[in-house]
Parts: sequence; structure tokens; C-alpha cells
Amino acid sequence: MESVQTKTWDFTDGRDDSILVVTVQELLDADSDYGLYTWPCATVLSQYLIHKKMWLKGKAVIELGSGTGLAGLVALRCGAASVLLTDHAEKRKVLQNCQSTVESQGYSDMQVCGLTWGHFSPQLLNLRCKVDLIIAADCFYSSKDFEPVLVTVAYLLETNMAAEFWCTYQVRSADRSFDFFFEKWQLKCTYVPLSEFTEDITAACRNGTTNPTEIQLMIITLCKAQD
Ligand SMILES: C[S@@+](CC[C@H](N)C(=O)[O-])C[C@H]1O[C@@H](n2cnc3c(N)ncnc32)[C@H](O)[C@@H]1O
Repeated sequence: MESVQTKTWDFTDGRDDSILVVTVQELLDADSDYGLYTWPCATVLSQYLIHKKMWLKGKAVIELGSGTGLAGLVALRCGAASVLLTDHAEKRKVLQNCQSTVESQGYSDMQVCGLTWGHFSPQLLNLRCKVDLIIAADCFYSSKDFEPVLVTVAYLLETNMAAEFWCTYQVRSADRSFDFFFEKWQLKCTYVPLSEFTEDITAACRNGTTNPTEIQLMIITLCKAQD
């Protein structure tokens, strides 16, 4: 039996004492789809987007593995010109739940579509040169997904050398490393300490079961974009 619930976050920006209230829809007791629940990584990424709100103004943003779409909604509310929320093309329930959040809140500059990592689908090819910022929260939970995510990211970055990929990652095993794939796809990664953008990391995570120090924020660009 499914039950729909709305979940609301009050994000504070200590620099100007503003509060951003964002609500998403979650489906509980569903068939354990990871994308029907909002993960702590999404809260941390949202806090970073708020920290970078001046940079975000007017940008075209795409979110990979959006799930409930929290980070994408925050990007739009921070002034992004458009946000495309995407998730696995076969995760109909996840995409419908996300669409329902978008429609119920009347966001006209936001769209939802299926986009599977590592697939060169018409949806991905249509995004050529149209993306300034790619975001993703908790999309590296399985090591088998590292390369498909990074292939999709590298393709989009190639079409706009000034674009960046901002993602949060929960360290679930110390044995995992991205370095091989960064080198293979000629990507450069910079880690941003959480203390740089949130005073209270525990509040940002909003989930007592997650140790906030396990979450990392990575900024990924093409190596040649830095030359
Ligand atoms: C751990 S959840 C994170 C959801 C959301 N970003 C958050 O942090 O709350 C991972 C998400 O990636 C999506 N996903 C899994 N495999 C995928 C794939 N191959 N292509 C695209 N999305 C995928 C899942 O459906 C899910 O929404």
C-alpha cells in the first residue's frame, strides 16, 4: 500500500538570514525505489546551491537521478532560468512522482524527463550545448554506476566547456575510488569542504542515521576547460 506525503525543508542562508521553503512529494511504503524518498545528499547539495545562488542566476540546469527533485527545485528557486529533472527512463513511478511535485507547485520553467546514465538517447543528444550546470545527489551509491554517470556528464560538458558538474556523494565504502574514471574521461575533480557553505552540517543532512562527515561535495569539470 502506497502513501503519499509531502516533505518540507526550511533552508537558511546565514549571509542574509533568508529562508527558502521547499516542498517535495514522497511515496512511502512503495516498492523500495530509491527515487521515491529524499536522501541526505540532496539536502547537502541544496544547501550548496543556496550558497551559490548568485552564480546560478539565469543558468540552464539539469539534474541527474533527481528522485523527488529537491535539489533541482532549489536550483530553480535560487534563480536558474530553467531546470530539467531527470531519472532512469524506466522508473515510471519516480518520474511520475517528480512530475506531480512540479505540477502541483506550478513551476513552468521546470520539466521532467527520463534519462538513463550512459545511454546516448535522443533526450541526451537533444541537450547538446544547452546545459550550464549539471547536478546530482547520491547517484554514486553503486560502483557499477560510476562510469555511466561520468560518461553522461563528460558528454554534456564537452558540448559546453564552461559547464560544471556539482554532485554530492555519500562515502559508503573506503575502497571505492573515482580516480580511474576521472582520468579515463579527462575530468578534473575538486572537493568542497562542507564547512565552507553550511555552519550546521547535521541540520543540513536532516537525517539522524547519516553521519554528515560521510557526505562529500565534488565539483567536476573537463580537464581541458582549465587549460
Ligand atoms: C539514491 S537515489 C537519489 C535520489 C535523489 N537525487 C536524492 O538525493 O534524494 C538515486 C537516484 O538515481 C536514480 N537512478 C538509478 N539508476 C539510474 C540510472 N541508470 N540512470 C538514471 N537514474 C538512475 C534512481 O531512480 C534514484 O532516483
